[in-house]
This record gives sequence, C-alpha cells and structure tokens, in this order.
Amino acid sequence: MQEPTRMLSVRDAFGIDTDLEVPAFAERCEHVPAIDAAYRFNPQATLAILAGFAHNRRVVVQGLHGTGKSTHIEQVAARLNWPCVRVNLDGHISRLDLVGKDAIVLEEGKQVTRFQEGILPWALQRPVALVFDEYDAGRPDVMFVIQRVLERDGSFTLLDQKKVLQPHAHFRLFATMNTLGQGNLSGLYHGTQLLNHAQLDRWNLVTSLDYLPPAEEAAIVLARVPQLATPPGREQVAAMVALAALTRKGFAVGDLSLLMSPRTVITWAENTQIFHDLRLAFELSFLNKCEPAERAIVAEYFQRCFGSELARHGEAADAGLLQAH
Ligand SMILES: Nc1ncnc2c1ncn2[C@@H]1O[C@H](COP(=O)(O)OP(=O)(O)OP(=O)(O)O)[C@@H](O)[C@H]1O
Ligand SMILES: [Mg+2]
Repeated sequence: MQEPTRMLSVRDAFGIDTDLEVPAFAERCEHVPAIDAAYRFNPQATLAILAGFAHNRRVVVQGLHGTGKSTHIEQVAARLNWPCVRVNLDGHISRLDLVGKDAIVLEEGKQVTRFQEGILPWALQRPVALVFDEYDAGRPDVMFVIQRVLERDGSFTLLDQKKVLQPHAHFRLFATMNTLGQGNLSGLYHGTQLLNHAQLDRWNLVTSLDYLPPAEEAAIVLARVPQLATPPGREQVAAMVALAALTRKGFAVGDLSLLMSPRTVITWAENTQIFHDLRLAFELSFLNKCEPAERAIVAEYFQRCFGSELARHGEAADAGLLQAH
C-alpha cells in the first residue's frame, strides 16, 4: 500500500473555515470507500474526524442510530483516498477474530498449522483507518485487546507469536457508538455495555451526531431520492421529515418505544419509489415495526403531517392520496 503524498486544505476540500491541512493519498486502492456525492458533512464531526486523520487522534463518533456516524468517517476517508475498513464489534466478534488464530493450511501438499493474523494486526501495520462500529457493544475480552492499541504509539503484542508489532505511521483508529459508554440508559440499545473508564479515557476526541434540522434532513432525503425533487415531492418529503420529528418527540416523552431515524426516512422515501404508494411504503418501512398498541399514535402523527388518514392499505383506495406523487 502507498503512503499519503500530498496535503489537502480542509477549507478547500470540505468548505470548513480552518487552516487545518490533512494528508491525502494520490491514488485510490481497493479499501478506499466510494465517494457519495450526496453526502452532507456536519462541520464539527468532520473536523474531529479530519483531526484524527491529520494528527493521529483517536476519535469516537457518538449518536443515535441512523444519524450517519459510520458513513461520516467513511466519506471523509473517501475524500482523502485513505483506505478504511469497518469492523462491527457486535457480541459475536471474539478476541481471536480480532487478533488472529492458528489455522490449518496446505503447504506443498502438506497440512501445516500457520498463524493467520486477524484484522487488528493486519490494519495496524498498514496505512489504514480502522473503524470499530458499535463500539459500546463489544465484548469485554475484545475491549481489553483494543485498549493497548488506543495509545498513539501503542505497540501491540501478539502473545502467541511472541511478536511486538509497531503501528504504521498512517494507521488510524475510529469508533462509533450509540451510547456514551454508560450502558443502555434510554432502553433503545440492547446489548450495549458499560465501558471501562480507562478505556474511554484513551479516546482523544469525542463528537456527537444528532438529528439534523428538518430542512437539512429533507435535503439529505432529496439527495438520496432525486425523483422527489419536484414541488409536490418536496412537500411530501417535508411532511415525512415532520412525521419523523413527531416520533422522536413521542419517544422522548415516553409515548412511543420506537422512533424514526434518518435512515428510516430515507428508506421510506426509497420504498415510495418502489411501491408508488406513500402509505404502503410507510407501513412496510416503519409502522410494522411498531407495537400494535402504539400504531394508533403513529397514525395520528400521520394525520397531522399529511392532513389525511393513514387508512390500512386496501381500505384507502378511495383516498386519491394512495398514489402520493
Ligand atoms: N449527512 C448525511 N448525508 C447523506 N446521507 C446520510 C447522512 N447521514 C446519514 N445518511 C444516510 O443515512 C443512512 C444511515 O447512516 P449510517 O449507517 O452512517 O448511520 P449510523 O449513525 O452509523 O447508524 P447506526 O447507529 O445504526 O450504526 C445511510 O444510508 C447514510 O448514507
Ligand atoms: Mg453505524
């Protein structure tokens, strides 16, 4: 793999008013994420992530689900041509997956045992940004393996191999998580763990992504589903975003146990294009995930935002609104 060869002005490349410059690679290799031209950067999060790349800081992006944490890091990497690999630290990832294990391989026709390095030693020795997604869901054995690498020049000992690995000068480490490491306080994130404070302490920068102002969220949806960028389409998207905002409010006051994330709004808009039916798409994208007891509340939100009933599919054939475009 190559090395970064040029410095990119953050002001020019990301339109953020800062003198920060960040190294970039000349060429894209297979691990560089594809650029998503419709992606909208959040200046504070972008700056934190860029500082992570430029100054080898360990950066955590925290926020509710579907707010764009994982893709934010990926999209910054994409613009620096920086190879970026995501690992989902769900409860199934074990220490051996991360570090590596002995495996039987064929060599000159004979079966021999060889150590196959895991993703962590692999990435550590390369100019790669490693992103641990769902960091707060990682198992304790995994977290202790990561702890050592979190220090900037943290070397990494492969115990079984009696080898000490030095990190590559352009190895970077990021994490995303839904909680702040205090466990499942909101009840939304089952499977998250309390993070050890010594562990949290090793992250140098923490940035949060929250839901965006409605106009911004609508712009993201329109960028994703450009077919809706007509006057009635825009109106429809504004109502969809308003409905999502109501579910978030309802969730905050305890009326609902589920909320619509920006990801759900995008999915709903995309599904509308598949079914040519706003309501059916809504049912399939969100309503069917709700507890039956809460569907009436959601239906009322729908009525408020669209000015018409969310009749069950089939019963609504008369309401010319079924073809919502
Ligand atoms: N600022 C944005 N601009 C464009 N698209 C966005 C933006 N934020 C989120 N999205 C889109 O929303 C979806 C969800 O984003 P992403 O997977 O990064 O969320 P997340 O915060 O990592 O969620 P989770 O907590 O569930 O992992 C993606 O399809 C992404 O492209
Ligand atoms: Mg994510």
